Amino acid sequence: MNITHISAECYPVAKVGGLADVVGALPKYQNNSSISSQVIMPYYDVKFTQANTFTSVFKSELSIGDLTYKFNILKLKKNNLDFDVFFVDIPNLLFKDYVYSFSDTERFLAFQIATLDWMLSWDKYPDIIHCHDHHTGLIPFMLQESFKYESFRKIPNILTIHNAQYQGWFSHDNVNLIPSFNFDNVGLLDWGGNINPLAAAIKCAWSVTTVSPSYMEELKTSANGLESLLSSESSKCSGILNGIDSNVWNPETDSYIVKNYSKKTIASGKKANKKELCDTFNLDIEKPLFAFIGRLVDEKGSDLFPEAFKIALKNPNISILLLGSGNKEVERKLEALKKEFKGQYNAFIGYDEKLSHIIYSGADFLLMPSRVEPCGLNQMYALRYGTIPIVRSIGGLKDTVTDISEEHGFGICHDNVTVTEITTAIKRGTKLYEKQPEFKKIRTQIMKIDHSWDASAKQYINLYNSIN
Ligand code: ADP
Ligand code: GLC
Repeated sequence: MNITHISAECYPVAKVGGLADVVGALPKYQNNSSISSQVIMPYYDVKFTQANTFTSVFKSELSIGDLTYKFNILKLKKNNLDFDVFFVDIPNLLFKDYVYSFSDTERFLAFQIATLDWMLSWDKYPDIIHCHDHHTGLIPFMLQESFKYESFRKIPNILTIHNAQYQGWFSHDNVNLIPSFNFDNVGLLDWGGNINPLAAAIKCAWSVTTVSPSYMEELKTSANGLESLLSSESSKCSGILNGIDSNVWNPETDSYIVKNYSKKTIASGKKANKKELCDTFNLDIEKPLFAFIGRLVDEKGSDLFPEAFKIALKNPNISILLLGSGNKEVERKLEALKKEFKGQYNAFIGYDEKLSHIIYSGADFLLMPSRVEPCGLNQMYALRYGTIPIVRSIGGLKDTVTDISEEHGFGICHDNVTVTEITTAIKRGTKLYEKQPEFKKIRTQIMKIDHSWDASAKQYINLYNSIN
């Protein structure tokens, strides 16, 4: 079976968040003797593309509205990724030093059209087309409706919703950008008076998945306007929990961290990595270290951090370290806290893959007070590195973290996203840290939890088989 994943991000080529991690791992776990899984993604001007060389496998031109763009399909000259990746190069449009911007309609539409135009030239079409998020959401519609893709009508296709907050809306005034189709069916594109790529994909894809079972349920009542659509399409929707790439995220072999460790050597391993963090960020290694890694957006609850940290840090016996970027006002407030809590708090505002690995390995607790968390990978990375997650029970966090008050519990959970609940959770963490034997037992226990992709990759294969 040939699976073609189409995505805006893929680790290690281009990563903004968890979408990249998923698309960079799932194909590896799907590839076996009977399945071949590959990725098609945009060619951006980023570190990975600068550091590698490519050959062209196809060249053509595409039309989008009245404009014509030349495009090139590229392939790595030397691929060390364990799966094939093809890059859609559209100079001046896709080839930028960023993945997303504020006006991406044409960029991602051109990406989708170039991908399908290229596929028309293939001798054998894919057995499954697997689309990820709204950037590829018009593909299921075009496969079903666009005249020029008539020969694709029978290709089973899947949409995975990684985050329904973002839907890619644009005005019907731009409907001419989409390759022509029977206009009687224009309603398939519409949601709430706009063209909505995510909604169109939910309507047209043969099957729809989300990245955790709880998120699937939550979407029926909270989906940024798509609630009734997801309820009415629920018979083809299911939630499959993401996994993690346990080769990339492995404290025993991780080349980013200062000292590798296993369950047996966790104490010395975490200590060495914590020391590195504390030395770099002027923190005290004896105090419990609470960390956050992520996008500073309201979904992650990060707007509450400045106030919550201020309150939590009144306890001189804790430290907090943050790695992230996003909302400028929040960034500014988080920077300002550094002066006030020197030696107890620090933050790196920006994106740093290596530092994220050192934090997962060196921190004692990882904070995730998310308002929305379709799956969340950070808590699973934290578990693998023996760092206790402190999470708001929602979406994938609810499906992967059990509170210490419950039988076999190993994390700290709270129900709401408020300053008080965040600071109370930090207090619970501090208390647990004071009981060192219990704290140490839990962090060894969590390293044993298996969240590798093996089980979830199988669920996707079962789903592909059911629609193929
Ligand atoms: P989301 O995709 O919503 O941002 P996930 O938990 O699924 O959340 O995945 C986030 C991914 O991005 C993780 O691999 C996390 O380590 C990484 N990440 C987020 N922010 C940063 C940052 N500032 N520096 C390095 N890695 C980051
Ligand atoms: C999205 C979600 C996140 C999820 C990731 C990968 O970015 O916000 O919760 O883990 O996709 O599926």
